[in-house]
Formats: sequence, C-alpha cells, structure tokens
Amino acid sequence: MITGIYPGTFDPITNGHLDLIERGSHLVDRLVVSVLKNEHKHPLFSLDERKAMLGEAVSGLGAVEVDSFDGLLVDYAAAKGATIIIRGIRAVSDYEYELQMALMNRRLNPAIETVFLMAHENYSFISSRLVKEVIKLGGNVSGLVPANVEARLKARLLGR
Ligand code: PNS
Repeated sequence: MITGIYPGTFDPITNGHLDLIERGSHLVDRLVVSVLKNEHKHPLFSLDERKAMLGEAVSGLGAVEVDSFDGLLVDYAAAKGATIIIRGIRAVSDYEYELQMALMNRRLNPAIETVFLMAHENYSFISSRLVKEVIKLGGNVSGLVPANVEARLKARLLGR
C-alpha cells in the first residue's frame, strides 16, 4: 500500500494541478492532496475554501483525499504513512526551487522520495498567480481552472 502526498498552496487549484493529481493517483494506492496552512502568505482563499475547491475538483477520482498541514512536510508525510511526495515541474524555472526542496526533504527524511511529474504541455503555462491576475484584469480563464473555481474567483475578485 503506497501512499503519496501532493502538497501545495492551491490558491486556488488549477487544471494543471488537477492533471497532476489525476496522473499522480495512478502511481500510488492512495494520494493525499494536502493544502499548506500558510495564512501568513495572505492567500486569496481561506484554508477551508481552498480545501472545498479541491474536494469538489477531485470528487470523481478514486483513492484521492484532501487534507491540510502545517510544519515540516516530511513530518506530516511520515505521520500519514506516505513514502512519496509528488511535485510537478512546468519549466526549467521551477527546477531550482524544486531541487532545493527535494534535497532538503531527503536530508530531513531519506525514507521519503520526491517524485516529479512534468506538467502537461497544455497546462505548463498556468499558475494560480497568473490566473488571479488575468481574472482581475477582465481576461478569460475558462479551461484553465475548474468551472467551480472560476465562479469563486469571479465572485471574490470581481464581486459577481
Ligand atoms: O504550491 P507551493 O506553494 O509551491 O507549495 C510549496 C510547499 C507547500 C510544497 C512547501 O512550501 C512546503 O513543503 N512547505 C512546508 C514547510 C517545509 O517542510 N519546509 C522545509 C522543506 S523545503
């Protein structure tokens, strides 16, 4: 029974995240998608809102759970019985940050392996930050985030 953790801020979940969740779920028996409780980063959506959007987006996927964590990721992963951390890489620019985190996490707990998935080419330009910016400026983000997320973004950022 292999448990994987797919951690992130998910402010909010995008179709790029969703693609990685779906593909990652085929690599493990149980995938826990876990939202970092980083309120000091002033996310647009509260932890509960981010979890709710994730829950709605993954409801059709088997063996995928939504949870949250704070503190060290490797400690949380170990407490969940996970041996794999899944992260996505979109472009070379993601690599440096991801390498640093993966090596730090390995030093902290060598029993947990970070597995990288390349973002799908259709989604490799999407980020939560850009999606928020485009919505705020009146652009169209359909196809970049799940429909429920688009609706919540419009309500929060445009008041409609
Ligand atoms: O979606 P993000 O913001 O790129 O996700 C970053 C995340 C949540 C994976 C990272 O910030 C994290 O693991 N935070 C937990 C704190 C921790 O364990 N830090 C030391 C390891 S580098």
